[in-house]
Amino acid sequence: MRVAFLGKGGAGKTTTSAGFIRYLASKKPFVLAVDADVNAHLKGALHRTDWSGQEFEIGEEREAIISYLKGDRQDLGERTMVGTTPPSSKSRFIEVSKHDPLISKYALTSGNIALLTVGTYKESDVGGACYHVKLTGLQSFFHHLLDGEEDYVVADTTAGTDNVATSLSFAYDMNVFVVEPTKKSVQVYLDYLTVAPHLAERTYVIANKVDTPEDELFILKHVPKDKLLGAVPHSKHLKRFEQGRKEALDDFMKEQEVVFERVLSTWQEKKRNWNNYLERLRSTHTKVCRDWLDDYFGEKLDEGLDSDFTYEQALSQRKVAALV
Ligand SMILES: Nc1ncnc2c1ncn2[C@@H]1O[C@H](COP(=O)(O)OP(=O)(O)O)[C@@H](O)[C@H]1O
Ligand SMILES: [Mg+2]
Repeated sequence: MRVAFLGKGGAGKTTTSAGFIRYLASKKPFVLAVDADVNAHLKGALHRTDWSGQEFEIGEEREAIISYLKGDRQDLGERTMVGTTPPSSKSRFIEVSKHDPLISKYALTSGNIALLTVGTYKESDVGGACYHVKLTGLQSFFHHLLDGEEDYVVADTTAGTDNVATSLSFAYDMNVFVVEPTKKSVQVYLDYLTVAPHLAERTYVIANKVDTPEDELFILKHVPKDKLLGAVPHSKHLKRFEQGRKEALDDFMKEQEVVFERVLSTWQEKKRNWNNYLERLRSTHTKVCRDWLDDYFGEKLDEGLDSDFTYEQALSQRKVAALV
C-alpha cells in the first residue's frame, strides 16, 4: 500500500507526511518513507537522531537501481531499460522490508522506519537534468515493488501538480492533498483534479493550519465532504517545538492523531488492482516511448517486452520462495 502527500509548497506536505510516518511507526511493524521532493526535508522533519546506514540520493543511483531491477530479463535484448519499462517474469522485485537488498543498501533506518531520498539538484544539474530524470529510479522502484496490504509506504512529493506528468501519478493507491485555507492552496488541488480526473476517486484532502471554523468552511466550499479527511489546527505546539521545546512535538502529534486515524482507515479500504496497474504502466510506457524516449535513445524501447508478465505471477512466486 502506498500513499503520497501532495500540495502547494509550504502547505505542510513534509510536516504532515512526517507526522503520519511517525504515527504509523508507532502502530505497525515497519514503514518505508520516501522523500520524493526536490526540496528534500523529510529526514529532518521525522525528528530522529539515530539514523543508520549510508546516505544515498536515489536520483543519482538511478542507473544502478534500474540495472539491479533488470535482473536476468532477456526480453529487452540490447534495448535500454527506463523508469517506465514494465517488469518481466525474470526481473528482480522489491519487498517492503529492511532486509530487502535494495532497501537495505539505499535507505537510512531509524528503528522501524526506513527512508529513501530521491535528492535535490546539484550544481552540475543546472541547465541539464530536470527533476523528472532524477525520478526515473523511483519510478522503476515502485513498478517493481511487490507491496501487500500490510505494507506501508509513505511518500512526501513535489509541490504542485508535477507528478501527473510521470508514471508516479498512478504509482500510489491514495493521494492526500495538504491544503491550507487559502485560494492558492485550494487551487493546486483543483488544478490536479482538472489534469488528472481519473485519479479523483483516490485523492483526498487534509485541511492544514486551520485557525477557525470559517477556515474549515472555506475548504468545504471547494472540497467534497467525503474527500475531506479532517483538519489540523494551525499549531502553537509545532511553533514551540521549532523554538526548541522537545516535548511539544507530542502535543502536536495529538492534534494530528484523529486525522491520521482517518487517513489510515481510508487507505486500508483501498485495494490495488494489479492488472489495471500493469495496463496503465504499459500504456504510459508506450506513450512516453512515442512522445520522446525512442527519439532520444534512437531505439524502440517498448518492442518485444514480456507480454506474459503479470504481477500476480511475481507475487505468487515470491510466496513460494518464502515457503522453501
Ligand atoms: N499544522 C501546522 N501548524 C503550524 N505550522 C505548520 C503546520 N503545518 C506546517 N507548518 C509549518 O509550515 C511550514 C511549511 O511546512 P512544510 O511541511 O515544510 O511544507 P511543504 O512540505 O508543503 O513545503 C513549516 O515551517 C512548518 O513548520
Ligand atoms: Mg516539503
